[in-house]
Amino acid sequence: MYAAVQQSAGAPPRYLEFAEPVAAEGENLIEVRAAALHRIDRARASGKHYASPRELPAVCGTDGVGVTQDGERVWFALPRAPFGAMAERTVVPRWMCAPLPDEVGDAEAAALINPGMGAYLPLAWRGRLVDGETVLVLGATGVTGRLAVRLARLLGAGRVVAAGRDPRGLESLDADAVIRLDRPREELVEAFTAAAGDTGYQVVVDYVWGEPVEALLAALTTRSFQAATTETRLVQVGDGAGPEITLSAGTLRSAAITLLGSGGFAPPDIRREAYGKLVGLAASGTLRVATDQHPLADVETLWTRGDQDGKRIVLRPVA
Ligand SMILES: NC(=O)c1ccc[n+]([C@@H]2O[C@H](COP(=O)([O-])OP(=O)(O)OC[C@H]3O[C@@H](n4cnc5c(N)ncnc54)[C@H](OP(=O)(O)O)[C@@H]3O)[C@@H](O)[C@H]2O)c1
Repeated sequence: MYAAVQQSAGAPPRYLEFAEPVAAEGENLIEVRAAALHRIDRARASGKHYASPRELPAVCGTDGVGVTQDGERVWFALPRAPFGAMAERTVVPRWMCAPLPDEVGDAEAAALINPGMGAYLPLAWRGRLVDGETVLVLGATGVTGRLAVRLARLLGAGRVVAAGRDPRGLESLDADAVIRLDRPREELVEAFTAAAGDTGYQVVVDYVWGEPVEALLAALTTRSFQAATTETRLVQVGDGAGPEITLSAGTLRSAAITLLGSGGFAPPDIRREAYGKLVGLAASGTLRVATDQHPLADVETLWTRGDQDGKRIVLRPVA
């Protein structure tokens, strides 16, 4: 079969022949219909992600949509290495396959579910968002950040503050306040303080880390002994602005800040619940990600090109 094959860490995958997968006990053999090119796919292929392949060559692709041997159309995630989603066929543990309703198309689901999980879980599960709370999204102009802004509203946030670099992207969001991240640090600290208003931020969903988070933490640090009136739950999800921050001990002692992360460790029942919500919202047309669809054979060029106009690249094994 043909697949997007990664031969060395850091290099884009190539469209090459790869061994046919054979399903083992407890696995589904899947005929793939669509697999999106997500940030995590690039990060894993860089060799620097905690879930980068340990052995190469390997097929790229963390999740996708396809049909099982029983004829069921499913969204699937985490194929067994060295197989991946960007292939004609793959093998996936059965518990990582979930049925897709007819109302949600192949490419639509392939584009939505991964970033949808990356938006829903930090808000609802790790961030424990409660009705009326204020949510700050850092990296709100990206595919996942846009979904987080939309979902924050749907989950009952009282106020949503969106931060990003792209001014056109920020303008297009349904946010109560927006913050430009590409500005000098002191200005950014002031902007975070001003947009927090009297209520502060209860949930921060962070797709950038690095300098913007250092500026946010400086804004949250109080300059006196004050009883906390609110807790900020900062959920780390992505690191577009840098993999590390400098964190002052005084910051954590001056204000009620809880640092958490959201990633591939969500337990199966939590994932199932999130999947059900996302698929329901997609089926009703409430939540979607715009797609840019291409044949899988073009993977090498698209890998370096990246998303355009906020549309997620979706690769289809059969053009
Ligand atoms: N842990 C999880 O479960 C999970 C799930 C999904 C995604 N993620 C991660 O979340 C991140 C965002 O994913 P995505 O799909 O939304 O990617 P994306 O569409 O490429 O968006 C990237 C976002 O990060 C911002 N950004 C990038 N570099 C920046 C920098 N140097 N300084 C400030 N902002 C910067 C971009 O701002 P502009 O567009 O305004 O320039 C944009 O808002 C990625 O790191 C991804 O791996 C994690």
